[in-house]
Amino acid sequence: MQKRLSVAIASVLVLSLAGAAVAAETDGPAYAEEIISMRSSLAKTFVLPGAEVNEDTFKKVCGAVGKRVKEINEKGDVKIRHAAVKYRNPVNAATPEEAAIIERFAKEPELKEVSGAFEKDGKRFSRYTRPIYVESACLACHGGADASPAFIKAKYPDDKAYGFKTGDLRGIISVITPLE
Ligand code: HEC
Repeated sequence: MQKRLSVAIASVLVLSLAGAAVAAETDGPAYAEEIISMRSSLAKTFVLPGAEVNEDTFKKVCGAVGKRVKEINEKGDVKIRHAAVKYRNPVNAATPEEAAIIERFAKEPELKEVSGAFEKDGKRFSRYTRPIYVESACLACHGGADASPAFIKAKYPDDKAYGFKTGDLRGIISVITPLE
């Protein structure tokens, strides 16, 4: 009886560990793809040649992306983070570990993703990251400092996220999933 019970407990444990690992394998790429392509298509839709770019444009592009990320983060175990060395919002400042991943993407342009596990407060997590590249539609707000809309200059006095060119590495998206 005792033995059967412990076998049952062991298999539930193995199954849930396997479940967590599978979730980490599929959630990471799926969420990263969703967020990266969402920002790209919103920027192409709302940053129009010749039109003024203002706070309302932001709300429809990186603002909408931020809202979606918050919604996912509040829903469950998966936590999505943006990280950049040249960041705009200080909450997105790369930690030393994230900066090392960004450096890898910078040195290896053919690298599409980096995943790994890490431990925090005694718990294990998986981290799936993908690089984010600058497109021409991003330049209205991440291009030359003079071109930066007034609301950005006012709201982000320590802004580092400008001066990019098309194709530059902007930072990473990181999807963190608990492993146990
Ligand atoms: C209309 C202006 C605007 C456009 C266009 C825009 N962004 Fe942003 N972006 C911002 C602002 C403002 C923030 C800071 C948001 C915050 O406070 O969290 C930001 C934040 C980010 C971040 C989070 C990291 C950080 O530095 O805080 C990334 C990554 C990013 N933008 C990438 C892009 C990419 C890639 C594009 C084009 C596909 C783009 N942005 C287009 C205004 C813009």
